Amino acid sequence: MSFEEFRTQELEGWDERAESYECLTARVTTQAIPALLASIRARVGIKVLDICTGPGFAAGAADAIGAIAEGIDFAPSMIATAKKRFPRLNFRVGDALALDAPDASYDAAICNFGVFHFTDPRIALGEAFRVLKPGGRYAFSQWASPKESALFERVFGAILKHADMSRIPPSPDAFAFSDTEKCRQALSTVGFREIEVTPVPSIYHGSADGFWDEFLRFSVRTPIMMRQQTIEAAAAIEAEITAAMAEFEQGGMLAIPMPSFVVSGVMPG
Ligand SMILES: C[S@@+](CC[C@H](N)C(=O)[O-])C[C@H]1O[C@@H](n2cnc3c(N)ncnc32)[C@H](O)[C@@H]1O
Repeated sequence: MSFEEFRTQELEGWDERAESYECLTARVTTQAIPALLASIRARVGIKVLDICTGPGFAAGAADAIGAIAEGIDFAPSMIATAKKRFPRLNFRVGDALALDAPDASYDAAICNFGVFHFTDPRIALGEAFRVLKPGGRYAFSQWASPKESALFERVFGAILKHADMSRIPPSPDAFAFSDTEKCRQALSTVGFREIEVTPVPSIYHGSADGFWDEFLRFSVRTPIMMRQQTIEAAAAIEAEITAAMAEFEQGGMLAIPMPSFVVSGVMPG
């Protein structure tokens, strides 16, 4: 099955979100950065590639520890934002499925919430493996599945109930890597050893007003799905999700558990 239409829409979606990303999506994605950097044993002087860097926060945190950090992302406006925020670092447009780096050129690679966006995650894992030096470490973060995530359970429960999924372009399963056992197997198949899983208790914080509008700007895949729905279905989804969020409101703010985890492995050698 070809996911090319999905890839085009994802690229357009992320490219449009570079400006708003840092005060919305990054508030949650940055919560996994400490676990990612601990998993690769980040330290002074090691060379780290941040794959799917977005506005560059994980690369920026690795740099703050003293690592020599670089970042790639396929969305040009994400790279422009990263360069503006962290002008000393090397950020460039690039594809995680065909990294522009030679074999064995980094001590570590990280990918903060990127793997489930790929049209072929196994190729991307192989690319991360290829660019690592022997003994190098790779770590990626991933959302927990809807059955373990209050936010995704409510959002995808309502979408699956009311949406016509046959209208959506074919796309890779967003939660295929939400099973930690499958992540271990995928890393081990590529050749990684010493695989570790670290849970991250991430929480979505936002205003109680307008959660749904905010979430449609938070992600790219959800608006891709919603654009294809009838007005009636879209209204039913919004109403159900808005009602469900009341449970998480306190003093006008929402705090919704959206757990994630970090998986890491070591390149033998
Ligand atoms: C959820 S954002 C994560 C951004 C960032 N890592 C963070 O810490 O918040 C996913 C990012 O992956 C990028 N992306 C998706 N597919 C990609 C690919 N094939 N190659 C490079 N970047 C990709 C998107 O442009 C987007 O910036």
